[in-house]
Amino acid sequence: MQHGEEKGGFKDRDFPSMHSGVVIPRQEAEDETLIIRNAYLEHLLESARDAIVWAESDHRVIRVNKAFSRLFQYATEEALGKYVDDLIAPEEFYDQAREITRRVSEGETVRSETMRCRKDHSPVLVDLLVAPIMIGDRQVGVCATYRDLAERKRAEENRRSLEKQLLQAQKMEAVGALAAGVAHDFNNVLMGVQGNASLVLADLDETHPHYERLSNIEHYVGRGADLAKQLLGLARGGHHEVKSANMNDLINRSANLFIRTKKELSLRVDYQEDLWFVQVDPGQIEQALLNLYINAWQSMPGGGTLAVFTKNVVLDEDMSCSLNLASGRYVKCSIVDTGIGMDKNTRERIFEPFFTTKKMGRGTGLGLASVYGIIRNHGGVIKVESQVGKGTEFSIYLPASEYSILQPKDHAPEASKGSGTILLVDDEEMILQISAEILERMGYRVLAADSGEKAVRLFKCYCGAIDLVILDMIMPEMSGAEVFHRLRKVNPHPKVLLSSGYSLEEQARELLREGCVGFIQKPYSMSELSEKVKDAIGKGQ
Ligand SMILES: Nc1ncnc2c1ncn2[C@@H]1O[C@H](COP(=O)(O)OP(=O)(O)OP(=O)(O)O)[C@@H](O)[C@H]1O
Ligand SMILES: [Mg+2]
Repeated sequence: MQHGEEKGGFKDRDFPSMHSGVVIPRQEAEDETLIIRNAYLEHLLESARDAIVWAESDHRVIRVNKAFSRLFQYATEEALGKYVDDLIAPEEFYDQAREITRRVSEGETVRSETMRCRKDHSPVLVDLLVAPIMIGDRQVGVCATYRDLAERKRAEENRRSLEKQLLQAQKMEAVGALAAGVAHDFNNVLMGVQGNASLVLADLDETHPHYERLSNIEHYVGRGADLAKQLLGLARGGHHEVKSANMNDLINRSANLFIRTKKELSLRVDYQEDLWFVQVDPGQIEQALLNLYINAWQSMPGGGTLAVFTKNVVLDEDMSCSLNLASGRYVKCSIVDTGIGMDKNTRERIFEPFFTTKKMGRGTGLGLASVYGIIRNHGGVIKVESQVGKGTEFSIYLPASEYSILQPKDHAPEASKGSGTILLVDDEEMILQISAEILERMGYRVLAADSGEKAVRLFKCYCGAIDLVILDMIMPEMSGAEVFHRLRKVNPHPKVLLSSGYSLEEQARELLREGCVGFIQKPYSMSELSEKVKDAIGKGQ
């Protein structure tokens, strides 16, 4: 039987009448129907994902589709006329192939998960379906379908990995919200400790017996604030100030600083020239990098190499799908160590908050969870590859930006004297007291308001005399945003410095766009406050 002779296998009534209303001679109409039917069949065959073979009843090939050629590496001409099992059944499976042929010749349809091989003899695991093609009682041929199971397994793994990523994202979302709340309150408490210590310290001489202890308190507040920063890193949208930055500079500066004190480590770098710029909060990204360096260092107790690379990458559909990102331009940064590596179980859990394999008191398990949150908040992803005994590679993908202006580096702030009147608004009595006292020591006159209502009242009374409002974002009854809008009704351009125990999130960013002059995160030191206040008062003058 030749291809195209399968006329008797179909019923004309299964196809739409293509000539309604026109009288066509019977023979011509039948030929036309046959041509259309063949076109449908051809499409079905060639668009199938599975490899399909049509064969004579003795299993000699009369037709293969494209998927067959793709899977088994035989061009159509090579396959035609050959016994299909001679082509693709491995020797060890000859008996099984013969048994299938026998059963099919008896009219049975056989299905089996089995091995076949390609032209280059490489094995393929397939789901095989062989069926007799019948016209009435007469077997006129055989149709065999081969589904590549390796491909299905790959797709299955892909699906599972995407599900896992989704679950992880949901978990991080929930923990992030909790962490941000804790960090906010924690920062307010720290602000109280920091403020009191700063005030006492400012009165003391370095030779005073309590000077060192008070300095220690400041140091520990710093540690506490770092911990709160890690927690805030977990939270959604926790950016500070987003700037155009070059990751080569950020990595170079932080890696060199880090390695300076780690004599047992050597640093290897490979920076892409003309690296695309990224829009990031440099402080947060440096914190994320530092967490990765610390982990790398801890994984190499006997010393080793810390390597950092940067690269411009363009993610196509396939790559972006497997990374769960939109396709486009990204900057890839890799941090590689030659340390102890991780097994599969550890690798799967490292981004979970509080997951640590370190001894009690040595690790909180927040490092990577925070990195994950920070990178995700920047629209990127972090991936890990690791082998026990060989080392670990973390890869960060950050979306490339169109902008290329590099902002000047921040310089270390120093507390200095200032003058003017500041309206200080915070619902926490203790913070109000401490901050007011600090500002007064710096030379400012302070009006304090413990609620939004009171702030608006004071602003109305002293409007012309107020040089700056320091406004807490989160307050009961009237929020910082509402206060700002009310102040604007009194004076369309009030100078407002926002303050919060949260990082700068969307609402604060919106207020900055609307005209607030700055943002300061609690807990702040005297010098930070002095710098921000001076900056804010100076703006627009
Ligand atoms: N470079 C690395 N090499 C080997 N294991 C690593 C590496 N980075 C992370 N890990 C594993 O991932 C775990 C979680 O890391 P993560 O940074 O979140 O927490 P931690 O380092 O244990 O504690 P913390 O960072 O809060 O002090 C680690 O305990 C460690 O088992
Ligand atoms: Mg860590």
